[in-house]
Amino acid sequence: MPDIPTLFRDDLMTFRTLDTADLAGKRALVRVDFNVPVDGGKITDDTRLRAALPTISYLSKQGAKVILLAHFDRPKGKVVPEMSLAFVAEPLSKLLEQPVAFASDAVGPAAADVVNGLENGGVALLENVRFHAGEEKNDADFAAALAANGDVYVNDAFSAAHRAHASTEGLAKLLPAYPGLSMQRELEALDAALGNPKKPVIGIVGGSKVSTKLDLLNNLVAKLDRLAIGGGMANTFLFAQGHDVGASLCEKDLADTAREIIAKAEKAGCELLLPTDVVVAKKVAPGVETAVRALNEVQADDLILDAGPESAKRLLAAMDDSVTLIWNGPLGVFEVPPFDEATVSAAKHAAALAKSGKLVAVAGGGDTVAALNHAGVSADFTFVSTAGGAFLEWMEGKTLPGVAALEA
Ligand code: 3PG
Repeated sequence: MPDIPTLFRDDLMTFRTLDTADLAGKRALVRVDFNVPVDGGKITDDTRLRAALPTISYLSKQGAKVILLAHFDRPKGKVVPEMSLAFVAEPLSKLLEQPVAFASDAVGPAAADVVNGLENGGVALLENVRFHAGEEKNDADFAAALAANGDVYVNDAFSAAHRAHASTEGLAKLLPAYPGLSMQRELEALDAALGNPKKPVIGIVGGSKVSTKLDLLNNLVAKLDRLAIGGGMANTFLFAQGHDVGASLCEKDLADTAREIIAKAEKAGCELLLPTDVVVAKKVAPGVETAVRALNEVQADDLILDAGPESAKRLLAAMDDSVTLIWNGPLGVFEVPPFDEATVSAAKHAAALAKSGKLVAVAGGGDTVAALNHAGVSADFTFVSTAGGAFLEWMEGKTLPGVAALEA
C-alpha cells in the first residue's frame, strides 16, 4: 500500500487523501488523462497510461470497482469513431496485468452494463466522455449521468484540470471527491516549487515568444528571487533594453510590455537574468558556422539562437545560490545542435544539484520535457510535469477548476 497521508495541503487548499476513503465494493469513477500521442493507431508515448497505474492498482487492491473516465482528442460533443478510446484498453490491460473491460459509451445502458458486470477489484474504461456535448459544457444532467455509475470520484488527471468539464469538475460536486495518487504527487511537487517553496527560488522561462507567456512572467517576477529569461523571448527583452538583435526572432511591439516586466521585477526584488552574450548563426541548421557575440556585437544578419557561455555560467552560479528551481521553456533552439548547449548545460547542472539534494528542481511543459529528455536528465529532476496547458496555467497563478473542486 502506498505511503499516503490522510490529508495534505498546498499553499491555499486542503485535500482529502485516498486512504481515508471506504473503498471495498464501491464503484470508483476515476478521471484519468489518456489523451496520448498516437501514430498509425499505436501509442507512441505511454507516459500518461503509466501515470494512472498507481491509482488504479491501489483502488483495485482495496476492492473497489475501478471505472475510468477519459477524453481523447477534441470530438466536440459528437461521436467520432477515429477518436474512440477503445484502442487504449489493451495496452492498459498489459501494463496493469489485469483485464480492462471497455464500454462503448460513457453514460447510459452501455456504461451501466459494463459497470454492473465488474467484480470487486475489476477495471473498466468508458468511451470518450467528449462524445457528449454535456462534457465540455459541464452540464449538470450529463454530470449526473456519469455519477450514476459511481459511489466515489477520484481525479488523477492534473493535465486536464485546467478544464471545467463535467468529468473534471462537475462530478466532484456530486460524489465524495479525492485526488488520485499522481494528482497528489503533482500538487505536492508544484507546491514545493511555487506555492510554498524553500527560498531562494530561481525560475527559468524560455521559449520563442513573450506574447504566449505574459501572465507567466508577470506572476513569476512577483514571487521569485531570480528569474532567468532565455530562448527567443529573451531577444524581445534585449531589444527593449536598447540592444540590436539583428535578424533574430523578436516581438518588437512588446518592447513596452517587456520594460514593464523589468520594472515590476525590480520593484518586487526579483533579479532578472538576461543573456549577457549570445550564440549567433546566419541560419538555423545543424552544424552551421556559429559565433559567440557580446550584446553590442550582434550584426544585422545575425540570428540569436542560444545563450552564450558567459550567460550559461552565470545561470549555473545562480542555481548554486538557490534552493528551489522552477523551469519552463528552453534557453535556445535545442532541437538543432549546437544551439542546445546552454539548455543542456543548465539541465545537467540542475539535475546534478537535485540529485545531491541541494536543489528542489521542478520542470514542466511539452518543450521543456523534450529538452530535459534530450539532455538525458529528466529522471534526476525532483519532478517533471508532463502536463501542458494545466502546468502553464498553474505557473501563471491561475486556479485550476479540476483542482479547486477537490478541496476538502
Ligand atoms: C492535454 O493533452 O493537454 C490534456 O489532455 C488536455 O487536452 P485539451 O487541451 O484537448 O483539453
